[in-house]
Amino acid sequence: METQTKLNVAGLDFVPYISHKEIAQRIEHLGTELNRDYEGLSPLFLPILNGSFMFAADLIRQICIPCQVSFVKTASYEGTQSTGKVSQLIGLEQDLEGRHIVLVEDIVDTGLTIASLLRGLENFRPASVKIATLFVKPEALKEDFEIHYRGFDIPNKFIVGYGLDYEGFGRNYRDVYCLAED
Ligand code: IMP
Repeated sequence: METQTKLNVAGLDFVPYISHKEIAQRIEHLGTELNRDYEGLSPLFLPILNGSFMFAADLIRQICIPCQVSFVKTASYEGTQSTGKVSQLIGLEQDLEGRHIVLVEDIVDTGLTIASLLRGLENFRPASVKIATLFVKPEALKEDFEIHYRGFDIPNKFIVGYGLDYEGFGRNYRDVYCLAED
């Protein structure tokens, strides 16, 4: 599939932003770090659907140590006033107690989803929880937590492609596109 000079996704125009080659290079690098850091720890990768499916497939192909992979989804509901929106993992099949968990995300924007998931995961008593995300929007972050493995820090732009969608469309492109300026 060729990189397109302009893409219309659900009525909005997008332009090329990050190529599949740049993405592949970053993922190779992240894989090297994970192989080194998790040697002997049998990590459990939890990719968060839907957005992370492409990133997870490519990242996990780089892992050459024993590991497990279990795709999960998030469900969010309104918590109490103090907790705000609460996100919970659904579809978990493994016992997380004592496990070294790597949450695999497509993009961390405000960080509210991941921060809430991290709080919920504490109840399962894992040995450790770290985050691997392909994109971070540092200017949009509203929560303070460590992001251990990050592909690209990007400005506060809306992007699609490589698993990321707008209105459910655009996940299928191997390159990443950003919303065209008016
Ligand atoms: P957060 O809780 O604000 O960090 O939300 C993160 C989620 O918002 C991601 O998993 C995506 O589903 C979605 N999201 C945030 N920014 C973008 C974007 O630029 N393109 C597509 N989806 C996005």
